[in-house]
Amino acid sequence: MPANICQQLNNTKNLDKASYVSSLLSQMTLKEKIGQMSQFNNNDEKLNNAIRSDSVGSVLNEVNLDTINELQRIATQESRLGIPLLIGRDVIHGFNTIFPIPLGQAASWSPELVEACANIAAIESSQNGINWTFAPMIDISRDPRWGRIAESLGEDPYLCSTLGVSMVKGFQGENLSDSNSIAACAKHFAGYGASESGRDYNTTNIPENELRNVYLPPFKALADAGVSTFMASFSDLNGVPVTGNSWLLNDILREEWQYTGPVVSDWESIPQLVTHGFCEDEKSAAFEACHAGIDMEMASDTYAKNLPSLIQSHNVSIEKINTMVSRILTLKFDLGLFDAPFTKSTSVTEKLNNFHLYAAKQAATKSCVLLKNNNQTLPLSKTKMTSLAVIGPLADDDYEQLGTWVFDGKAKHSITCLSAIKDYIGDSVNVEFAIGMETSRSNNHDGFSEAIDIANSADVAIMILGEEAILSGEAHCRSNIDLPGCQEQLINAIYGTGTPIVLVIMAGRPITLEKILPKVDAVLFAWHPGTMGGPAITELLFGEACPSGKLPVTFPRNVGQIPLYYGQKNTGRPASDTTYVDINDIEVRAPQTSLGMTCTHLDTHFSPLFPFGFGLSYSHIEYNDINASTYSVLMGESFYITATISNIGNYDTEEVVQLYIRDLVGSVTRPVKELKGFQRIFLPAGESETVIFKIHTDDLAFYNRQMKLTTEPGLFNAWIGGNSDAELKTEFEVVLRPE
Ligand code: NOJ
Repeated sequence: MPANICQQLNNTKNLDKASYVSSLLSQMTLKEKIGQMSQFNNNDEKLNNAIRSDSVGSVLNEVNLDTINELQRIATQESRLGIPLLIGRDVIHGFNTIFPIPLGQAASWSPELVEACANIAAIESSQNGINWTFAPMIDISRDPRWGRIAESLGEDPYLCSTLGVSMVKGFQGENLSDSNSIAACAKHFAGYGASESGRDYNTTNIPENELRNVYLPPFKALADAGVSTFMASFSDLNGVPVTGNSWLLNDILREEWQYTGPVVSDWESIPQLVTHGFCEDEKSAAFEACHAGIDMEMASDTYAKNLPSLIQSHNVSIEKINTMVSRILTLKFDLGLFDAPFTKSTSVTEKLNNFHLYAAKQAATKSCVLLKNNNQTLPLSKTKMTSLAVIGPLADDDYEQLGTWVFDGKAKHSITCLSAIKDYIGDSVNVEFAIGMETSRSNNHDGFSEAIDIANSADVAIMILGEEAILSGEAHCRSNIDLPGCQEQLINAIYGTGTPIVLVIMAGRPITLEKILPKVDAVLFAWHPGTMGGPAITELLFGEACPSGKLPVTFPRNVGQIPLYYGQKNTGRPASDTTYVDINDIEVRAPQTSLGMTCTHLDTHFSPLFPFGFGLSYSHIEYNDINASTYSVLMGESFYITATISNIGNYDTEEVVQLYIRDLVGSVTRPVKELKGFQRIFLPAGESETVIFKIHTDDLAFYNRQMKLTTEPGLFNAWIGGNSDAELKTEFEVVLRPE
């Protein structure tokens, strides 16, 4: 058989990337070019023939390695061109080894750990023939009703950017062509997290200033860090669905940011331009998406059907198509696919090796956030108890602890809390288990009496509650984020026994806990912790490890407070403790006075239940001596802000030290606090450390009224502390250089 085009090119020595891609492109027909711009779902019956005829650039959702190798064989050996396929998959928080959901990983505030988790996911998935993941999701998420908050890195642009970049490094490794690297994808560009009322796929309306200052920075950070691909959001941004939004995809991403990688649509989002009411038919949808700069269409065939005629009628230029296809071919070249399209098989046991499981346990340990610990209920001591009650539908559920977006991790590999607790405790303590409720959303009280019985005879009741995996993630939004079903009644029932309650919550989002907080002695928020959730939680509960996670998102008291985030604006009438008026303090038919005329609700306090950045430790951490290395900082220079952090408790612990600033006066109003740095430090009991943050005046920049990124001179406050309510404060000013 004569060599196909790629085989001929592969035999041509010393072809650099640009020459390889342009030479290949010059030999492609229009139909073949559009083929590269088409991504097929694996269950499409026409797949093999479509690949054979060079009509497929990428396949998603095929994970059988033999099938993947066969698809690559057809692509590289049976087609005229011989171009290998991009094999895409949602590898969101692990592949076989499942790590905490991304929101949980964000609670670790550990770039190193987040990078390691992504790296292990890349190793396992690449060994399965996957070469492209649709992660990380870096949508700023300020609405806990939105199910996809579980996949996010939280509410803050700085934290999200930092951890998003770590994920990209983990997935892509040192070099994309390494056999264990996979291409990452910055998604969903942009503003998806602002879906109105937290309902998935909903409209977003984000003023450009807020878009640039809040929603775009993580995407810019990932573009600068070399993320291989972008995915356009499903959502309508200010009236123009992103899939057809040339301003966002061309003017900002390509022109302003000079991003050169491919942009993929979201699932069938090109034909959905018709559903949005933005295009009258699929032909015009294909035109708008192509014009806006969607290089590859996911799961639908609008491009294949319509681009040929759009090109023929000169509505779309062939030069544009060439540019788009080059981006895709360049990615395939960077991944080394032209040289090595096939993958050798590795067993699942090799993938789920001890190191991967150890990393999963570490990630789960560092992502758990201790929200309450009255009278040092925790850590528990097995030598000080004779009987322990473990209660709840999530205590022994190997599937639910994995969380949303788990396609390739198996429940049978999970270690649950119940089995880890039994394992840890051995025979010394009698451990009784009662499920209490069949599922997290059950309303049936039949299991309560057994739970009450075991609690009655126990020294402590560990209740493991929360949300099943399916209650968060794509299209799984909730209007009420209390514990679902009759879990609150179950807590009340156990509270009635008088036995101390340690509540462990597994969930894909913040849960409103105000009503139940007084009933429980300790709360450990574990998110959906993944494969090794059980051992991690057990070690934390029994003091073998010290909690150190911090909230990556504000916990509201109730849904009425949403949106509630720490980086809010001050307003002209900020709420304060001195002016706050509660609904019950108002006399009936009281005349309106100026008292309490501030930005708050009458029927709930203006503060959150737990602020962003919050998380307790078993030890006690003190923050002292904040200092700025200079009061007046010259524009364009760096300076330092330091504080002394002391562990005055009895446990060695890790602490996430956080630096916040406030720009007191801006040409556009500035948030009351902005995270500008954080460090996770290890502090043995009794020791202190001076933590140093280096700040450049560029780090203080924001988009002004002219949409220019500028640092404005003037006064700033700075705080260093263990959460966004930090009080240890200093100030500095930024001054212009003398002329
Ligand atoms: C739709 C989701 O919005 C996106 O995040 C995901 O990557 C694709 N489906 C592919 O599964």
